[in-house]
Amino acid sequence: MTHIVSIIGARPQFIKAAVLSRLIRSKQWASKVKETLIHTGQHYDSNMSDVFFDEMKIPKPDIHLSIGGGSHGQMTGQMLIEIEQQLIKLKPDVVVVYGDTNSTLAGALAASKLQIPVAHVEAGLRSFWKVMPEEQNRILTDHLSTWLLCPTVTAIDNLNKEGITKGVYNVGDIMLDAHLYYRQVIEEEMNNGISRLKKIPELSNGQLTSDFALATIHRAENTDDPARLTAIVQALNKLPVKVVLPLHPRTSKVIDNMGLRFASNVLVTKPVGYFEILTLQMKCNCIITDSGGLQKEAYFVKKPCVTLRDQTEWVETVESGWNVLAGADKETIIQSVTNLFHPDNYQEYYGDGRTGQVILETLLENI
Ligand code: UD1
Ligand code: UDP
Repeated sequence: MTHIVSIIGARPQFIKAAVLSRLIRSKQWASKVKETLIHTGQHYDSNMSDVFFDEMKIPKPDIHLSIGGGSHGQMTGQMLIEIEQQLIKLKPDVVVVYGDTNSTLAGALAASKLQIPVAHVEAGLRSFWKVMPEEQNRILTDHLSTWLLCPTVTAIDNLNKEGITKGVYNVGDIMLDAHLYYRQVIEEEMNNGISRLKKIPELSNGQLTSDFALATIHRAENTDDPARLTAIVQALNKLPVKVVLPLHPRTSKVIDNMGLRFASNVLVTKPVGYFEILTLQMKCNCIITDSGGLQKEAYFVKKPCVTLRDQTEWVETVESGWNVLAGADKETIIQSVTNLFHPDNYQEYYGDGRTGQVILETLLENI
């Protein structure tokens, strides 16, 4: 029996882990693999954590470290100490880490120092902007990993250029697995007249009758830069459409502190669950975001994406014409949303939705 320890802690990691954790417990794999799930506690509000475990039926974490908030060094250091203690007791065959958060780096570092192999899901992504906390986390994690499970050909190329050629696999994007699986559930619900949007209190009084854009903002480069955040808020306020903005708690706090105000076209909600955001993605006209996950999800639902960043790791979405890098430039944001684009070009860059299966096959062949 192969023992996997999976380290998760932030919203996008719950979504990615939902795929693998479900497969591991399926008939095909349950007799070959067991998983211990460690939640670092990096995200802790119920709408940033519990909602995903409940809605997506992710198994309850076996170990919850409750390490959230604080500076990057504090958070990562505390996680390193506590994950190491758990790994010494658990002695797994492999530690699986996802993405590029502080939880990812702490998990990879703790495991590699104990000489436990690390499998990095979403390896090889690069923004080529080293001050970005996520870029630091992913470079370090990739260089510590034994198995680099890449979502795209671009990611493989990036690793090769850094001299990493061993243990590198193109497995596709695990977020596409999640998207396809849960989209089927949502579509069945819609056919039966059930609307997930009724679960969002801020939208339930019939405000959302016309075309709308879905927006999210949470990246440090925007929230920690008053000029950028002000320009983004001003751009949303000036858009000729309604904007649904499920706001990350980090951004909410900064916006309150800065005294920024939203115009009446911007419907601000608390962060929503995966089923609700998927419904919003399916119904909106376009997506405005600085999220990595949402840029791809826009591509999955074939909606134009206006990215509030100056660079992206998901370069295929830009090259194909479905994503525009607007940065925090007010006029570019307004122009891009006003003149929406729907390119003919659409290629399956992100695999076929069987990434979870391929990851398990790859790990079991190599351990
Ligand atoms: C983290 C990741 C980022 C990822 C994002 C997903 C790092 C360096 N960043 O950013 O890559 O895109 O998660 O959403 O790991 N907060 C709450 N409640 C919560 C969680 C956070 O109030 O449940 C607030 C706290 O004030 C906290 C701040 O948000 O200090 C930032 O949280 P943190 O986890 O450090 O970073 P994110 O911005 O969420
Ligand atoms: N998401 C969600 N509710 C929200 C905002 C985002 O379920 O209110 C989902 C989103 O659809 C995607 C994932 O969370 O699947 C992305 O997480 P996030 O934007 O926090 O992080 P990133 O991908 O930028 O690391």
